[in-house]
Amino acid sequence: MKRLTDTGPGIAPDALAQIWAPFYTTKAEGTGIGLSIVRSLVEEQPGTAITVESRLGVGTTFRLTMPAIGVAPARPSAS
Ligand SMILES: Nc1ncnc2c1ncn2[C@@H]1O[C@H](COP(=O)(O)OP(=O)(O)OP(=O)(O)O)[C@@H](O)[C@H]1O
Ligand SMILES: [Mg+2]
Repeated sequence: MKRLTDTGPGIAPDALAQIWAPFYTTKAEGTGIGLSIVRSLVEEQPGTAITVESRLGVGTTFRLTMPAIGVAPARPSAS
């Protein structure tokens, strides 16, 4: 799992679902393309997922999970 956290402005809860949409941007000169391309690339890869968590005024974390290549899947723990 790869995790990237920033200390930027954060994303409002009602905007969180929209950030993946093509051409959605809150930047004056943004294209809104970046995250829609990221989502397309993630969806092309079986077992791969990206999630976002954000707090307004605090920052944003993106988490990317993907299966390891050539490694047997971990067994569920017995706990
Ligand atoms: N790390 C972040 N912190 C706060 N808002 C974010 C973050 N990443 C994305 N967003 C929000 O999601 C929107 C869409 O992001 P996306 O990368 O798709 O396009 P963009 O950054 O606006 O445009 P461009 O990629 O052309 O600069 C942004 O405009 C912003 O509102
Ligand atoms: Mg961007």
